[in-house]
Parts: sequence; structure tokens; C-alpha cells
Amino acid sequence: MKLPLSDRLLACCALVAPGDRVADVGCDHGHLGIHLLQSGVARSVIEADINRGPLQSARNNAAKFGVKERMTFCLSDGVRSIPRDFDTLVCAGMGADTMISILSAAPWLRSSRYRLILQCQSKTPSLRRYLSDNGWYLRQERVLRDGRFLYTVMEVLWQPEAPSLTLGQTYYPPTICPSPEAESYYRWVREGLRIAVAHRPDGENQAALAELEEWYGKEYDQ
Ligand SMILES: C[S@@+](CC[C@H](N)C(=O)[O-])C[C@H]1O[C@@H](n2cnc3c(N)ncnc32)[C@H](O)[C@@H]1O
Repeated sequence: MKLPLSDRLLACCALVAPGDRVADVGCDHGHLGIHLLQSGVARSVIEADINRGPLQSARNNAAKFGVKERMTFCLSDGVRSIPRDFDTLVCAGMGADTMISILSAAPWLRSSRYRLILQCQSKTPSLRRYLSDNGWYLRQERVLRDGRFLYTVMEVLWQPEAPSLTLGQTYYPPTICPSPEAESYYRWVREGLRIAVAHRPDGENQAALAELEEWYGKEYDQ
């Protein structure tokens, strides 16, 4: 039986370090955690979800794929009700507002003990702004294509001394790993800003667009 794992979740798994104890918050079906245990990458996995249905589905899938005994299942709003003995927190498939509320409710995560792997589905610039303003450093961000869509996956470290992101960098951070998908992402972000400026000329969009074009325009518009 083959585990149905999307390229998006595979990209999250690729940032997990061998031997990590992983907490997958918003686990839903549990596919990410199952893959991490099956492949021998993770030492242990906490599967957490705010809803009973998804958590039960994670339990059922874990049993089906023979890894249930190596997982801990927690009904939890964010990291509120999970054990704290993990290394890497994964949050995937959620919007920025949910991720920000999960991180804001857990000041204990602000420690070099923890690493975050975040795959944000919407309002990604506002998540980057929040992280940067609150002591988190975006160590790297990878862009991938899954079907018709471009996604990014961030590796985030607690590093309050790191310089803050500028406005333009919250739309396209300097630590995005160069790739053809990253170029497509740049163009997509820039197009979104151009449309926003055309419809609602607003100082912030205009300033972000000008910054992006100045820094990356020459590189990506050959
Ligand atoms: C769209 S699914 C994503 C599932 C999986 N992580 C993925 O990327 O394919 C979002 C999941 O997050 C859960 N969720 C939403 N808000 C949450 C919160 N505050 N704490 C924990 N889980 C949450 C939902 O119940 C749902 O199962």
C-alpha cells in the first residue's frame, strides 16, 4: 500500500533533520508524520489537530501503515495541549492568521531548542512580517510546484538578533533558494502587487513593488 503524499508535504519532510522529534500541528490525515516514520527520518512524531475527525483519520491511517505505536495523538488548539519534548514543529496547509495565532499563544516556543517548518497557504507576507518582527529568522524558503500551484516551505529559527525583513522582503525574502520555481514565484508575487497597485494605489503595495523590482528585476527579467 502506497502512502498518498503530496509534493507539498514531501517538500516539508525534506526540511526535517534526521533523528528529529517532530510535532505536526494541523496533521489532518497524518500523512506527513507517517512518511517521516516510514522513511526513518523522524525519531518520533506527535500528531495534533484541533478537530476530532481529522485526528481520528490520522490514527486510522497510522494504524493502516503500521506506525501508530510510534506516534502520540493530541487533540489540541495549536501547541496548547501537546508535550513539549520535540525539536521541530511543522504547520502545513494553514493560512497566516491561524499560524500567527498558534505561535503567539506559545511564547515557550521562542527558544533555540525549537525549529519551525511552515507551509503557509494564504497571506504569506503577513506571516513573514510577524516572524521577522517577533525574533524568528527565515533561514531558508523553498518554492515548489504541486499541480497548478506554487507553494513555499520555510525553515524558521529563533534568532532575535537577526536583521528584520524590509517590506519588499516580506513578499520575496532574500533567503528564498534560487530555482526556476522561485523565479516563477517572483513573477507571480510581482504581478499580484502590480494588480493591487493598479486597483488601489496604496503606499505600501507601491513601496513593496518598487523594492522588489529594484532588487530582483534585473536578475529575473533577462
Ligand atoms: C487544510 S488541513 C492541512 C492538513 C495537512 N497539514 C496538510 O498540509 O495537508 C488543516 C488542518 O489544520 C487543522 N487546524 C486548523 N486550525 C488548527 C489549530 N488552531 N490547531 C490545530 N489544528 C488546526 C484543521 O482541523 C485541519 O485538519
